[in-house]
This record gives sequence, C-alpha cells and structure tokens, in this order.
Amino acid sequence: MVSKALLRLVSAINRRRMKLLLGIALVAYVASVWGNFVNMRSIQENGELKIESKIEEIVEPLREKIRDLEKSFTQKYPPVKFLSEKDRKRILITGGAGFVGSHLTDKLMMDGHEVTVVDNFFTGRKRNVEHWIGHENFELINHDVVEPLYIEVDQIYHLASPASPPNYMYNPIKTLKTNTIGTLNMLGLAKRVGARLLLASTSEVYGDPEVHPQSEDYWGHVNPIGPRACYDEGKRVAETMCYAYMKQEGVEVRVARIFNTFGPRMHMNDGRVVSNFILQALQGEPLTVYGSGSQTRAFQYVSDLVNGLVALMNSNVSSPVNLGNPEEHTILEFAQLIKNLVGSGSEIQFLSEAQDDPQKRKPDIRKAKLMLGWEPVVPLEEGLNKAIHYFRKELEYQANNQYIPKPKPARIKKGRTRHN
Ligand SMILES: NC(=O)c1ccc[n+]([C@@H]2O[C@H](COP(=O)([O-])OP(=O)(O)OC[C@H]3O[C@@H](n4cnc5c(N)ncnc54)[C@H](O)[C@@H]3O)[C@@H](O)[C@H]2O)c1
Repeated sequence: MVSKALLRLVSAINRRRMKLLLGIALVAYVASVWGNFVNMRSIQENGELKIESKIEEIVEPLREKIRDLEKSFTQKYPPVKFLSEKDRKRILITGGAGFVGSHLTDKLMMDGHEVTVVDNFFTGRKRNVEHWIGHENFELINHDVVEPLYIEVDQIYHLASPASPPNYMYNPIKTLKTNTIGTLNMLGLAKRVGARLLLASTSEVYGDPEVHPQSEDYWGHVNPIGPRACYDEGKRVAETMCYAYMKQEGVEVRVARIFNTFGPRMHMNDGRVVSNFILQALQGEPLTVYGSGSQTRAFQYVSDLVNGLVALMNSNVSSPVNLGNPEEHTILEFAQLIKNLVGSGSEIQFLSEAQDDPQKRKPDIRKAKLMLGWEPVVPLEEGLNKAIHYFRKELEYQANNQYIPKPKPARIKKGRTRHN
C-alpha cells in the first residue's frame, strides 16, 4: 500500500516537473527567437544605415555638380527694355523662327514686348530663336497656320510662308494653302481679338514688271500658271483677303511689299543670288550666273527691313508699302563684289536663263520715306560682310555636325511583288 502511494506521489511530482520543464523550454525558445529577431533587425538597420551613408557619399558630389551646371545654364538673354503695362504689347509672329521672323523677334523682344512665335518649322528652325527660350516674355508654339489658332494678342506679324523659290516650289499646294487658308485663319484671329495684322507680302506681286522702278500703284505682270504662281498669286490673294477683312469686318491691316532681303540666318539652300554666290565663293566653286547677268536686283539688309516692318505696323498707313533697298546692281556686279569680299579665286560661270526670272527689280520707296520716315541705312558691303561671316560659321558648324546615315538593307516581303 505504502509503496503504491509512494509511486503515485513520485509520478505526480514528475508530471509537474515535466510541465515545468516544458514551460521553461517554451519560454526559452520564444526568448531565443525574439532575441534572434531583435539581433537581425539591428544588423539590418545597421546595414541600411551603412548603405544610406554610402549612397549619400556618391550622390552628394553629383548634387554639387548639378548645382554647378544649373548655375552655368542660367540663361543670359540679350538685354531687354522694360515697358510699362500700358506700352507693352502681346505680339504674335507667324513664321517667327524663319530668317526675317527671327530678327523681328529679336527687335520686339529687346524693345520689351511679349512675343509669341508660331512656326511649323518647314523652313524655320529653333536655333534661330533659341536664345529667347525660357524668357518670361517669350513663347514658341509649334503650329501650322493652316489650322486655326486661338490666342490673345494685340498685334500679328503674319510672315508664315516659304519665301525662296526652291522652298515655295517644293510643295506648291502647301504654299498656296499657307498663303490662303493660313492668312484667312490669321485674319479671323485678328477679327476675334481686335488685333492689328501686318501681312508680309512681296515684290513678287509685281511679277516680271513692265514699269521700273515699281511703285505701290503698279498692278503687276504675273503669270498665273507659271512655276512661281503658287507664291506670287498666293501673296496677291492674301493681300485681297486683308482688304476684304478691313472693308467688311473693320480689321486693321498693314501690307508690306518686301523686296529681296539678305543677312545672317538666311537658309543655306535659299537658292537666291546672294546666298548662292557667297556659298560658292566660300567653297571655291564657280559662281553661277543665269543668262547674261545683266538682269538687276536690289537687296536690303535684314535689320533695315525689320525697322521698316515695325514702323509700318505702328503707323496709320493701311495701304500697301514697298520695303526694299533701291540701290540696284546687275547680277554680274553682285558676283564680282562677293567674290572680292570673300577673297575667292572662284570663276564666274554662265548658265541658261531661268523661266519667269524677272529682268529688273527695284523698289520705289518714296511712300515709305514720306509716310513712315523710313529708308534703308546699312551699306551693301557692310551687310554682305556680315552675311559672309555668318555663312562661313555655318559651313564650319555643318562640317562639325555631319550625320552620314547608313543605308538600310531593303526589306522584301515574301509573296509580294515590288513596285519600283
Ligand atoms: N526674305 C525675303 O527676301 C523676302 C522677300 C519678300 C517677302 N518675304 C516674305 O517674308 C516672310 C518671311 O520670309 P523669310 O525670308 O524669313 O522666309 P523663311 O522661310 O525663312 O521664313 C518663313 C517661316 O514661315 C514658316 N512657315 C512656313 N509655312 C508655315 C505654316 N504653314 N505654318 C507655320 N509656319 C510656317 C517657316 O517654317 C519659316 O520659319 C515670308 O512671308 C516671305 O514671303 C521675304
């Protein structure tokens, strides 16, 4: 009996011990898992801290470099006058990234106005106005004037149109659309916002003139179906549209009949005599003269034209005004002068006459002198030297930026005939 009772006592004590031991083991296990967890976290946190400080070590010098770059990128704009709210105008220049438009942009920006350039970059380029990008008074919009435009402006200089024969003949239908639909859109905008519109028309409205020099009351001699007609007739109808909007809708219009203009930012492929001769002379190529070279041209320097455009816009003259330099030279004289200024040994080469090439071109600028107090002031040689300097730099720039595309192998789809 006693022994049985002893056995029960011992097994009861053992069970309790076992429970106690199991409890202790469980607590020890939980404690060790927790300990490991805490340990791992602190290792991880330490690791993260180390990684963060490593990243910081790499990133900080980069941040420093970005700060330096930002400082060096802080755009230095040409000096701009301050105009009071009352005198400052919101001005739209269509075709403002082109040759004339970009110089006009420079003048109006420097005079302190707010300028919006609208251009589809057909012949214009961002490089011509890049020095204004980011300026608070300047905006550049990539837009085709054949599509309507809705902005608020006080004045519109409507220059959008290819201007040189190779450019306007490249796509005659587009040239017509730009000069007709584009002009209608801009006149519509002028009507809607009550802006004054200046049309950049051309001496080409006189065609191959039968009177010399050409004054504004001469109606012209244009071949309506010749290769230049898309431009000449496009500009003639653009003028008609201006006066229809003036008479019917009371829109204020100004029409500048621009004669041949030259200067920096002309296109390399302009195709007209000044740039052709300069490029040929600079590259030692023969200077090509079409016909005998006795046909005459008169060229104005671009800054003179820009001053004339601004004077006309701000005048009360609503009828067309010629803007050009009446100093007339034969094409042969131009060739000789440019050859000498460049110091080139190029020959002069005579080629057959171009179709519808006007024989004489010289503006009568008495109206501009009388009513705008404007006349060209830049001497021909001075202007030519600036243009030569520009083209020399352009040739260097192009030589350093040549891209020679690799021809891609032709892809012929199986089972289809090719139409060559
Ligand atoms: N340069 C001259 O000797 C001369 C002579 C007479 C008239 N003009 C007139 O002056 C204006 C400017 O001539 P430029 O010599 O500066 O020519 P340009 O080709 O350098 O400039 C014309 C600009 O109009 C832009 N443009 C063309 N079609 C457009 C369209 N559909 N929408 C928006 N933009 C468009 C071109 O991209 C370009 O920037 C033209 O209207 C031209 O007819 C120039």
